[in-house]
Amino acid sequence: MKKKLTINNVKQKKFNKPLVCLTAYTTPMAQILDKYCDVILVGDSLGMVLHGMKSTREVTLEMMIMHAKAVRRGIKKSLLVVDMPIGTYEKNSKIALINARQIMKETNCDAVKVEGGIKVYEIIKCLVNNDIPVMGHVGLLPQSVKKKSDYKVKGKDYLSFNQIIKDLADKINKSIKIPTIGIGASNKCDGQILVTEDLLGYSVKPPKFVKMYDNFKERTEICIKKFVKDLKNNNFPNFKNMYQI
Ligand code: KIV
Repeated sequence: MKKKLTINNVKQKKFNKPLVCLTAYTTPMAQILDKYCDVILVGDSLGMVLHGMKSTREVTLEMMIMHAKAVRRGIKKSLLVVDMPIGTYEKNSKIALINARQIMKETNCDAVKVEGGIKVYEIIKCLVNNDIPVMGHVGLLPQSVKKKSDYKVKGKDYLSFNQIIKDLADKINKSIKIPTIGIGASNKCDGQILVTEDLLGYSVKPPKFVKMYDNFKERTEICIKKFVKDLKNNNFPNFKNMYQI
């Protein structure tokens, strides 16, 4: 079995890419991903992907902790990162620290993730000073998206490009030698992350940049139809599908 990765192992990959990162929300998915990933993120995208919510803005701390606990049970070696949902960190450092500590304690994760660059700089600083490793998130910030039309590519216009550069270069990339992980961004990043359900073809409307490696939504429907047909034709359960006493 591979050795458990540490934050330092992952940091060292800055010069030795690519870092393989994917999202998981459940134990069975985490068990599969753990064999291949450096980082497994319990993203607040679970609100939309699993719970049918309109945005990540409805996701609660309790939901994140519950799913992160499930993912923890499936991980032996990857680094586990858990998203802090909106409302749990951005107001002030004190609130952020209480909630980050709760996430770390209850889920035994390796780091938390917060959205925003320079705006949450003081919060990130406070968490890190209190021994809580933090993954940042700049560019498109789903927690700040109030309407669907705001889900658009960032960095195209001068203002948002400058904001991303400021977020990345000023406070993060230059001062700390941390790896960068892209999603629909540059292949110059040290790693890449995708929402696993997007690449598997389970998502209703995956972002344009996603490479869909299969269509499990279609495959699932085919299996369900076969099951229903078997039931209707009295082919299920047969002898093999029943406990024999
Ligand atoms: O919530 C999430 O799954 C994420 C990924 C899109 C990186 O933040």
